[in-house]
Amino acid sequence: MNGKPHAMVLGTGRAVPDKVLTNADLEKMVKTSDRWITERTGIKERRVVEPGTPLSELATEAALAALENAGVAGEEIDLVIVGTVTGDMKFPATACLVQERIGAKSAVGFDLSAACSGFLYGLQVAGSLIAQGGYRRALVIGGDVLTSMVDWDDRDTCVLFGDGAGAVVLGPSDGERGILGTYLKSDGKYSHLLCNPGCGSLNPPTPENVRDKLHTIRMEGREVFRHAVVSMVDALKTVLDEAGMTVDDLDLLIPHQANLRIIEAVNKRFRVPAEKLFVNVEQYGNTSAGSIPIALAEACQSGRVEKGSLVGMVTFGAGFTWASALIRL
Ligand SMILES: CC(C)(COP(=O)(O)OP(=O)(O)OC[C@H]1O[C@@H](n2cnc3c(N)ncnc32)[C@H](O)[C@@H]1OP(=O)(O)O)[C@@H](O)C(=O)NCCC(=O)NCCS
Repeated sequence: MNGKPHAMVLGTGRAVPDKVLTNADLEKMVKTSDRWITERTGIKERRVVEPGTPLSELATEAALAALENAGVAGEEIDLVIVGTVTGDMKFPATACLVQERIGAKSAVGFDLSAACSGFLYGLQVAGSLIAQGGYRRALVIGGDVLTSMVDWDDRDTCVLFGDGAGAVVLGPSDGERGILGTYLKSDGKYSHLLCNPGCGSLNPPTPENVRDKLHTIRMEGREVFRHAVVSMVDALKTVLDEAGMTVDDLDLLIPHQANLRIIEAVNKRFRVPAEKLFVNVEQYGNTSAGSIPIALAEACQSGRVEKGSLVGMVTFGAGFTWASALIRL
């Protein structure tokens, strides 16, 4: 989707749990150290839900914050998309639960599965539906409760993830502001390198599968790292090229917050100065589909960007999926 903007961001919101899990806490749980985690990932702490807290709670809180920020009432929303891989249940869609809680009686809601790319995929889908003319007020939410599928005995993965959700309200563009370009990509060849093999029809939750922890995250960290860097460079370069822009045009770049070293490796190629590069991975770890919309809401609400600012966003996740977007706020 490139060219004249059709849909623009009217408001942003975010929700993260109050509970903080620090590197020092993890030192008591697995054989790791604050030093190792900080050096290899940049993460110092992450927010985690109380066990049993569903994604819909964070998603609804983020949605209500975005509605308030946009000055839009819940009943005005006609489309709800939740990008997530940790919805409350296999069905119904978490989007339907959020729809009910915000009073969006006339909306259609559905979830979208693209792992950490879920928010940018959702932004593209909602933007296209608004561009077609059928919808006027869309909520795009990205969020995950990845701690619900973390193996807390696996130091390779348990130090990386946190919980959280972010949301935007979209409406028709005023002609200048809005989504200027998006780029989505996937490659199933690498699905085995980052997956949650035991929560679907492949390995239903039998006692044996649960015993073997198939319901937790499996990851080949080094391989994922390598693909993440190459793919995010590809996504950012493509969306900028197609818009006829360079990183110098950006007021802010929001990369997926998975690992500070991935962000730095991607930025080696683009050389975005620190003041234009958004980083909060040290506070939250990798919140999956929540990562980009949480960062966007924080950037907007801290005044780091304002109406008219050009924001680039780029992400990578399981699938593999990767994506980018350029928006004029
Ligand atoms: C997981 C990741 C941090 C590991 O960093 P790395 O520099 O690649 O580290 P390696 O895998 O080479 O492991 C180095 C050593 O540290 C060990 N190690 C792994 N996790 C550890 C931890 N939490 N604490 C201490 N040591 C750890 C490994 O066992 C390994 O030990 P060995 O050399 O004796 O075998 C990194 O690969 C990464 O971030 N990958 C991408 C993950 C990601 O972002 N996933 C989501 C994508 S959306």
